[in-house]
Amino acid sequence: MNVPLLDLKAQYAAIKTEVEAAIAEVLESQHFILGPKVEQCEKAIAAYSKCSHAIGFSSGSDALLACLMAEGIGPGDEVVTTPYSFFATAGAIARLGATPVFVDIDPATYNIDASQIRSRITDKTRAIIPVHLYGQMADMDAVMRVADQHGLVVIEDAAQAIGAEYKGRRAGSIGHYGCLSFFPSKNLGAAGDAGMVVTNEAQRAEKLRCLRSHGSKPKYYHKIVGGNFRLDALQAAVISAKLPHLDGWTTARQRNAKRYDQLLGEAGLPVSLPAVVTDRHIFNQYVIRVSERDQLQAHLKRNGVGTEVYYPVPLHLQECFAYLGYTAGSFHESERAAKETLALPVYPELTDAQAQFVVGCICEFLGIDPPRPAASFQAVSALAGAQSQAALE
Ligand SMILES: Cc1ncc(COP(=O)(O)O)c(C=O)c1O
Repeated sequence: MNVPLLDLKAQYAAIKTEVEAAIAEVLESQHFILGPKVEQCEKAIAAYSKCSHAIGFSSGSDALLACLMAEGIGPGDEVVTTPYSFFATAGAIARLGATPVFVDIDPATYNIDASQIRSRITDKTRAIIPVHLYGQMADMDAVMRVADQHGLVVIEDAAQAIGAEYKGRRAGSIGHYGCLSFFPSKNLGAAGDAGMVVTNEAQRAEKLRCLRSHGSKPKYYHKIVGGNFRLDALQAAVISAKLPHLDGWTTARQRNAKRYDQLLGEAGLPVSLPAVVTDRHIFNQYVIRVSERDQLQAHLKRNGVGTEVYYPVPLHLQECFAYLGYTAGSFHESERAAKETLALPVYPELTDAQAQFVVGCICEFLGIDPPRPAASFQAVSALAGAQSQAALE
């Protein structure tokens, strides 16, 4: 059976008419840069993220960069973040000549271990970038407490976490800034690169608007140096067309995660399942931890199951960051996660049969009998199936 890691064609087939109509509207208008489609999209994402402002950007990476630029962060400054994330998190810091200062992760959630942040703060520290990895928010109360005590700016890297919740608050709405990515594999994916910053502060929003257009205000008058970081109208139209489906897709991802939890749990496999410790984990990825990870991944591949390793090399061990002076052993939990974690297919359209097949392959690899779908599993399945069907329609 073929089970891809992500099936964007299945998603597109279900919403083709709406997406094509949205694209056609932009083509008819011939208004491609900023304008009403981008503004509409920004309003909708701000409301969805429970924030007062949203500013569209060309990508999540540029969104992170612009927030750091808005704070004037540069050479001589330090920014605290996690070494277990996509490269862009630390790349944005280094691109501005500032120094990424890493803090190890909590092994249960893979998010920054907030209890260790304080020990890494110096008089050069300007900001903290917590990452809400795989779709679950970091411990934001603890992050904000340290930030407030030391007068630091908090930029939430919510690239993987649109709509995730921590104590009733949405990803991006707790820090001074929240950066979203609409890279196609995200829960809300554009038809190319796109990103956004959400914030509750009008002045910061205004500065970001200026920075994304070469720092100009009014046009051709430049008080600050920015870049071309704009979200384009075609991407904004696609994102807006897909947004009404996002909650349904998230429910389906959560259902799939529950399916795996039950099937893998019942089989009694020596596999660690994702720990859900916040109100709303949106499961951009369903990541297990297993000791023979590479061999399991190869076995799944031979059987037609797509998986991914996020991330095989933690950021402190990347060649380009050798100058920071970290070595193997600097961050034990991040290094262990890089060796042991594996993302399984959790996309909304994944069927029961596909999930069972994936678990069957894992059982086969580990030499354990696959679980028979229990009554409890079937009940959850039927209930979640009905809910997500309604949400997907
Ligand atoms: C945690 C994290 N940060 C930042 C980014 C950068 O986003 P983008 O790919 O839109 O530049 C991504 C996405 O790939 C990500 O997963």
